[in-house]
Amino acid sequence: MNKEERYSLLYRQIESLAEGEENRVGVLANVSAAMKEMFPEAYFWVGFYLVDETARVLRLGPFQGTVACYTIPYGKGVCGSAWAQRQSLVVPDVEAFPGHIACSSLSRSEIVVPMFAAQGNDGLSCPPSEEQPVWGVLDIDSTELSTFDDTDRQWLERIVKLLAPC
Ligand code: SME
Repeated sequence: MNKEERYSLLYRQIESLAEGEENRVGVLANVSAAMKEMFPEAYFWVGFYLVDETARVLRLGPFQGTVACYTIPYGKGVCGSAWAQRQSLVVPDVEAFPGHIACSSLSRSEIVVPMFAAQGNDGLSCPPSEEQPVWGVLDIDSTELSTFDDTDRQWLERIVKLLAPC
């Protein structure tokens, strides 16, 4: 399977993993496992950091991979920057990213996708809001340079929408 085919399958798998399940931590844990299984060679570390608004930090959530940092301040590292900038960051060489936080010395490239709360402008379960808050980020690391591209970014942005709470 090529990358597109694998993402397409992963999308459908995550759709069914997330649908109707109230256990948020359980869903995120299963999603990180499904992602690592689909891309075992590309994803060295895959997981979630969740926003702690009170402390203004990201806190380590469910993941697959090696032991990782617990806390990342707003605006720091790739994860904290994606949160602050409210946009996905594709980093071909982590050593060239100012302020990169090295949880593992094996990581060479990285993609971080912010996760926005769902909005209820369709009149369904979530209330409308002016600006959707970021509730976490999806972080994926690779041991090779330049692993992630726009195809990854587009699919991962679609995938995290399946996980959005209000
Ligand atoms: N490299 C990330 C920190 C998280 S670990 O890679 C799991 C960053 O710079 O935000």
